[in-house]
Amino acid sequence: MNHTHPDVPIGLRSAGLHCACLLMAAAWSTAVHAGDPAAGARAWVREYPQPGGVPARSCVTCHTADLAQPGRHAKTGKSIEPMAPSVNPERLTDPAKVAKWLGRNCRWTLGRACTAAEKADFLAYIETQ
Ligand code: HEC
Repeated sequence: MNHTHPDVPIGLRSAGLHCACLLMAAAWSTAVHAGDPAAGARAWVREYPQPGGVPARSCVTCHTADLAQPGRHAKTGKSIEPMAPSVNPERLTDPAKVAKWLGRNCRWTLGRACTAAEKADFLAYIETQ
């Protein structure tokens, strides 16, 4: 006889509701999908062709391929602080900021929102830099 509640997924049932709250609060984080740093590294340099003669775009377009170096905004020309937490400890410390910029930057670069798995891979990669 099975007495478990049918509406609660197995993972949440065993981890408890407290964990479900944390997962929602940290929806951006690698806690949801274990990110793959190697996949994130590949995605970081992948070039996305743009219509209308616009040069192809990638994360490198503004952040450079070396995350320890400062970047430069492709549109405004403004300097961007290094992405690597090893040289810029403020990186990836504010979930709202991370979510906001991943949203913007995915749309600008890929022309669409990133999937949760793609975001997790990017973050896993950045974390290792
Ligand atoms: C058009 C220029 C541009 C491109 C292309 C771009 N970014 Fe950014 N990104 C920015 C700017 C500007 C900020 C906010 C300023 C800052 O944090 O220095 C930012 C911030 C971020 C942050 C927030 C980091 C933190 O915690 O401070 C993440 C994560 C990020 N970008 C990831 C990406 C990824 C992944 C890509 C490729 C899909 C990408 N960016 C492509 C301009 C860009």
